[in-house]
Amino acid sequence: SLVPVILCGGSGTRLWPLSREAFPKQFLRLSTQGSMLQQTLQRLAGIDTVSPALLVCNESSRFIVAEQVREIGLENSRMLLEPMRRNTAPAIASAALHAMENGEDPLLLVLPSDHVILDTPAFHRAIALARTAAEAGNLLTFGITPTGPETGYGYIRAEGMATGQIQRVLEFVEKPALALAEQYIASGDYFWNSGMFLFRASRYLEELERFQPAVLAACRAAIAAAKSDLDFIRLDKDAYAASPDIAVDYAVMERTSHASTIALDAGWNDIGSWKAVLDVAEKDASQNSTHGDVLIQDCNDCLVHSGSRLVTAIGMRNTVIVETADAVLVMDADQAQQTKSMVAQLIARE
Ligand code: GDD
Ligand code: MG
Repeated sequence: SLVPVILCGGSGTRLWPLSREAFPKQFLRLSTQGSMLQQTLQRLAGIDTVSPALLVCNESSRFIVAEQVREIGLENSRMLLEPMRRNTAPAIASAALHAMENGEDPLLLVLPSDHVILDTPAFHRAIALARTAAEAGNLLTFGITPTGPETGYGYIRAEGMATGQIQRVLEFVEKPALALAEQYIASGDYFWNSGMFLFRASRYLEELERFQPAVLAACRAAIAAAKSDLDFIRLDKDAYAASPDIAVDYAVMERTSHASTIALDAGWNDIGSWKAVLDVAEKDASQNSTHGDVLIQDCNDCLVHSGSRLVTAIGMRNTVIVETADAVLVMDADQAQQTKSMVAQLIARE
């Protein structure tokens, strides 16, 4: 069988002021089709022999997650709760150990919960192809054809760039510096890593044992002492706290020699900025996307989001306006990457 492992414990602040430490972007209802977490879960329907999803999230998000899962009628999903954030390598390890508890060794389809995929059938086809290679012991990544030297992604150099076939990964570099990213893009030899993975639970744990044994040891102890009730599996706090804080990309993917990739051409977007939200949003005839109590006049290419008050705009172009009860953002859409430095300034001020 194939167990979807949904990572929903991240703390994105790139969609500030809407996404915050306590309410990251995977839970935001930016579209009429539900939150990105809900869309991630709904996208699983139709995958061959797929088990109920295992959601891995922070203890403090459990009610938001449970509510969003209930809303779409997927109460049979299980939730694995982290007492504190230790990043994705231990989150996935805990899920793998849990999935193996009854003596099985399923394939894990590891999915971020904060991405958009427009072409679900293409996504399903890629999984079907990847499955055979994962069953044979490979760690599968899904490669995206890059559009620019983004430094927030992992870069994958594979045997080839052809679509529709599995390629061995020759090099995986997580979040390269800009100069290196530019070099990769210029070469035309690299994919972006989509952040989705498919591998057998035991294969991931073997690689983790080799490269980050402290992570595996902490997760083993946290699972052994976990407490389960009806909906939740709670990892043991002291045991989990002992794990190094490290992402799967650094812990395993950069180091393993058993990675493969398959090109994914499915309208993937990781919604890393308000500009990306605008790109994928439903828009009016003047290419504006509005949300909430908004009135606009003579605006083009604008995103206007009202959270608590009436927001009006006149004669704006290519502008993002996001209003919440305690903060308002007004920004040139082309500077959407700069919210990161704005949030850094805010944190420094506190
Ligand atoms: N449960 C849990 N616990 N989930 C987590 C944690 C954690 O401690 N940290 C992050 N996540 C979740 C996030 O919510 C997101 O859904 C996913 O794991 C990936 O984490 P990010 O923090 O968003 O990673 P990233 O965007 O910097 O990089 C990853 O994704 C890129 C594509 O979007 C990497 O895999 C890159 O290589 C990749 O290009
Ligand atoms: Mg991300």
